[in-house]
Amino acid sequence: MSLPSPDKVPSHAAIIMDGNGRWARQRGLPRIEGHRRGVETVRKITEAGRELGLRTLTLYAFSVENWKRPPEEVSALMGLLEFYLQKELQTFVKNRIRLRTIGRTGELPPGVQKHLNHTIEATAGFTDYTLVLALNYGARTEVADAARDYAAAVAAGREPAGESSWAAFSRYLSTAGLPDPDLIIRTSGESRLSNFLMLQGAYAEFVFTPVHWPDFTKADLAAAFAEYARRERRYGLTSEQLAPPAK
Ligand code: FPP
Repeated sequence: MSLPSPDKVPSHAAIIMDGNGRWARQRGLPRIEGHRRGVETVRKITEAGRELGLRTLTLYAFSVENWKRPPEEVSALMGLLEFYLQKELQTFVKNRIRLRTIGRTGELPPGVQKHLNHTIEATAGFTDYTLVLALNYGARTEVADAARDYAAAVAAGREPAGESSWAAFSRYLSTAGLPDPDLIIRTSGESRLSNFLMLQGAYAEFVFTPVHWPDFTKADLAAAFAEYARRERRYGLTSEQLAPPAK
């Protein structure tokens, strides 16, 4: 497995985990079996991300739009999430993984919220590696919520009126305190963002892979990192500005 040099390893990778349903259908299995296998991949890739040098891994586990899926699939996903949190707590603590969430988690079932809060509290002191689960997350909802909260802060005199700054506004997003993603990966052959980290991903590199999420491995993650390492991130500058020619 060829790895990029450490300075080119993304610090924060975010993954749109797609293809659980297709993985299951190709095997004549129910969709939920794909999600179950998807949870196994979540476990493996969380570990792999750390081994490959990530500091932050964000996983898009449930979008605001996913509530519109058939009710039995939604409740199966919530059940899997609760089971995963229950089972992984020990691993998070043992491996010093900090858990965070983004999204409207207050609308998740009470059992899920209970386990989330417990795990977040139990891992709050860990600083080396953070797993961020995007749950009931949607970028447009997030921005609308942030605009509401920012306006309320201005009205209450907690923010100066008449100013416009990304640094100030971004503190009201659910990603407050997290670095922007360097790399966004989407599995299963689709090439779209689906309402994921639309502002935070402004300068992210994108890697799309045909592999369905249940089949995604550490080698696939390393391949995405290798692709990332070949990219030149210019942030609006020119190549010459980034690496001036030797005089
Ligand atoms: C996309 O596959 C996947 C999801 C909408 C849910 C992702 C959830 C998991 C991996 C399991 C639960 C997560 C955690 C963190 C325990 P799809 O169903 O859209 O696949 P398809 O496009 O092939 O139908």
